Amino acid sequence: MKPIIIPIISLFASSMMLSSCSSSVKDLNISKINESISIVEVNKPSKYILLPIQEDAQESKVKLMTGSKADTEMDVRIANNRIDYYVPFALTANNTNKVEIKNPSLNSILFDSIKVSDSFDAQNRERFRPLYHHTPLYGWMNDANGLVYKDGEYHLYFQYNPYGSMWGNMHWGHSVSKDLVNWEHLPAAIERDTLGHIFSGSSVVDFNNSANYGDNTIVSFYTSASDKNGQIQCMAYSKDNGNTFTKYEKNPILTSELKDFRDPKVFWYAPQNKWIMIVSADKEMRFYQSKDLKQWDYMSAFGKGYGALPSQFECPDMVELPVDGNPDKKKWALIVNINPGGLFGGSATQYFVGDFDGEKFICNTEPNEVKWLDWGKDHYATVTFSNTSDRVIAVPWMSNWQYCQIVPTKQFRSANALPRELTMYSQDNNVFLAANPVAETLKLRKETKSFNNIDLSKDYVIESMLDDNQGAYEIEMSITSLRPDYDLTLQLTNSLGEYVDITLDSENNKIIMDRSKSGIVDFGADSKPHEIENHDNRKTNSINYINDFALGTWAPLANNEKSHKLRIFVDRCSVEIFLDNGKVVMTNLVFPNEWYNTLKLINKKGKVNVDELNIYKLSL
Ligand code: FRU
Repeated sequence: MKPIIIPIISLFASSMMLSSCSSSVKDLNISKINESISIVEVNKPSKYILLPIQEDAQESKVKLMTGSKADTEMDVRIANNRIDYYVPFALTANNTNKVEIKNPSLNSILFDSIKVSDSFDAQNRERFRPLYHHTPLYGWMNDANGLVYKDGEYHLYFQYNPYGSMWGNMHWGHSVSKDLVNWEHLPAAIERDTLGHIFSGSSVVDFNNSANYGDNTIVSFYTSASDKNGQIQCMAYSKDNGNTFTKYEKNPILTSELKDFRDPKVFWYAPQNKWIMIVSADKEMRFYQSKDLKQWDYMSAFGKGYGALPSQFECPDMVELPVDGNPDKKKWALIVNINPGGLFGGSATQYFVGDFDGEKFICNTEPNEVKWLDWGKDHYATVTFSNTSDRVIAVPWMSNWQYCQIVPTKQFRSANALPRELTMYSQDNNVFLAANPVAETLKLRKETKSFNNIDLSKDYVIESMLDDNQGAYEIEMSITSLRPDYDLTLQLTNSLGEYVDITLDSENNKIIMDRSKSGIVDFGADSKPHEIENHDNRKTNSINYINDFALGTWAPLANNEKSHKLRIFVDRCSVEIFLDNGKVVMTNLVFPNEWYNTLKLINKKGKVNVDELNIYKLSL
C-alpha cells in the first residue's frame, strides 16, 4: 500500500467533509457473510476506503483481497459506538476491490460511516503536534529504525502503524530530510506481511556490494515478529535509494531459540573486512559476523548482569568515538535500550564504554555501573545513522512504554526527540558519552531576547517571554555560583498556574525537572487501572498512570562545578535539557493547557549570577 496523502483542508472544514461524504456509500456494497465476517466491495476505481476508528474498540481483522498469498490481515480498531478519527486503507487500481472485515461484534456504525475516497485529509488537527520535531503525518510511531544517510539525504524509518494511533501492524514508516530538522513524509517503506510485523532494525549502504545487489545499495535488517514464527531476523534491499524495498526471498537470515530476539544492528568493521550484527537477545546482546550480509555466524554475547537490573535489552547500537577528541584514543560505546528497567520507571537508554576486538565487546567498567544516555523519562530506542562518516548522530523516540499509547493526542502519537550528535569525554578516570542537539538546530533560531548579569537577590520574572508564543523556543543560560551552595529554579509557567520547574541544586548535586504540575498529567486516570497490552503480550500490571507521568526526574550535576551552561528546547509537548555541553541530558514530555510564556528565576539559596540568558523563538 502506498497511501497518497493530501493535506486538503483545515480542521473544521475537514470534520465537515467527513460527515458530508456519505454519498460515497453508494459506491460500496457491504455484505455480511456471517455474524463475524463482512465483505466490503468497492465498485469504482478509488484510492482508499476510510475506516472509522474507536481507540478502545477491540481489533478487527481487515484484509484487502487480491487473491495473492501475500494478502495480509491488518488489526484495526474499527468503531462500534463512537468515531475518534478515520484512517485510510489503500485499495488497488482495479475497477473493483474487496476488503474482508472480521470482527464478531461489528455493528451499524461501521456500515454507516465507512467511506470511499481518493484523498485523505491529513491536515494537522492536534495542538500538541511539535513544530520542529519529527512526527508521523498520522498514526502511531515508536522506535527510529534503519537510520541511514545517502546522497545528501537522511532517511528516518520508524515503527509505524498506519491504521490507528496506537501500537499495531508494524511497518517501517519513512521520512527524509536534508538537514535533520525539515522532514518530508513518504509512504511506508516496508509493510507488515504474512511473516509478521516489521519490528526494529538498521540499514547500511553496501559500499562494496557484499550482498550482490549492486554497489551502494541500501540493505536493511529488521525483525519479523509473529505468534507463529516468533522473532526472526530478516533482510530487505532498496534499488531506488531507500524509497521502496524488496524483501530477501530466503528470509529469515537468522533465528534463535529465544522468545525475545530482535532489533538487528549491522555495521562494517573495517579492521577485519567484515560486517557485524548485534541482536538484542533477552537480557544480553549477541554478536554475529558476515561477509555477504546473508550468512551470519555467532561470535559472542555481552550484557548479562550488567547495568540497570532487572532489565530487558532492546534496540542495540555500537559506535566508536575518539575520547576528548583525540583520534589516537578511541573507545566503543555499546548502546543498550532497556524496557522495563529505566531509572524512573519504564523504558530508558543506557550505554557501556569499552573495547571491541572484532569478536567481543569488553566493558571497561564494573557490571553494576550504569550510564544513562538521557536522564528523562521520554527517551527510548535510541539508535544512530549509518554512513555519516565521523559524525555520530542519534535519534531517540520521545516517549515511554508506560503511557505512550494514552498521551493526549489522537491524529498521531509520538515524536522523535531532537537528533543528537554523540561525542566521548573522560572524567574521573572514566569515559562517558555527551549528547548535543545537532548543529543544524541553530538555524531554527528566529528572534532573540537577551539578558545579561541578572541580579538574583530576588526572584527575576520575565512575563511575556515571546510575543507570539507558539510553544516552540530555546532557552540558553549560563550561570556562575559565587558561593558553593545554591539552589536555582528556572520555572516555565502559564496564566493557568501550570508550570515546569528545572532546578539546579548544588547541595544535593542534582539537576531536577519536575513536571507534576505541568498541565495535563492525569490521562488514563479516569478509567479503571489500565492494562495496556504491549506488543509481546506482556501485560503491564495495573499501572497507575498518574504517578508514572506526574513526577520529577533528576540527574547528577556533572562534577559539582561552579558554572553551568543550559540549553533547553521546548516544543509544545516536550522539554529537552542539555547541561554543560550535553554531559547531562534530560528529555520529558509535558502537556500544558496554554503555552508557558512566563519565565521565573527563583533563587532559594546562595549567590548565583546569571551571566547570560537568551530566549530564541524557534521555527522551521
Ligand atoms: C522497542 C521495541 C523493539 C521492537 C519494537 C516493536 O520499543 O519493543 O524491541 O522491535 O519496539 O515495535
